Amino acid sequence: MNTVAPRQSADPAEPTEPVEPVVRVCFVCLGNICRSPTAEAVMRSLLLREGLHGVVAVESAGTGAWHVGEPPDTRAVAEARRRGVEMQGTARQFHPGDFYVFDLILAMDERNLVDLHDLAPEPGLRNKARLLREFDPARRPDEDADVPDPYYGNGVGFARVFDLVHAACEGLLDHLVKAYGLRPTT
Ligand code: 4NP
Repeated sequence: MNTVAPRQSADPAEPTEPVEPVVRVCFVCLGNICRSPTAEAVMRSLLLREGLHGVVAVESAGTGAWHVGEPPDTRAVAEARRRGVEMQGTARQFHPGDFYVFDLILAMDERNLVDLHDLAPEPGLRNKARLLREFDPARRPDEDADVPDPYYGNGVGFARVFDLVHAACEGLLDHLVKAYGLRPTT
């Protein structure tokens, strides 16, 4: 999702967010209107809760271009709002150059992961792309690792998407804190 950049204060007495985040994460699905913007919004809310929003930058994108410039799906927005999370931004397409920008590129399903691997500009960068649900501590090893695409369903898939994304983002947060030694900035 294309979102507004964090505000930088002109007043030196007012605290500002660091200019450079320590780690950059991009969530990726097919259309960038349902699953990945949900993950972006959930992760942003968890980072705010932990005072880590200045050190972890989060974005989302889609491998497809059909919905570029559109806001998130109203069903995803309603489900997130029901859980106290506000979604923002407009859809954008994932670009091969994003492999140079982000430290972690987290696919919602196996198909997205294959597409991302195909988009990597160098084979050595492919390992930046992983499945989001790898980070879900409750996921059983024999369990499907996909966040199922809810777009063509009857709407009930959005609650499941939120549950899966939320559990995985909590695990991702723990991973990032340990792997990068992150500390709150507020
Ligand atoms: P998303 O869901 O990948 O979670 O954003 C979809 C949105 C749109 C389409 C497919 C999946 N579509 O085919 O238009």
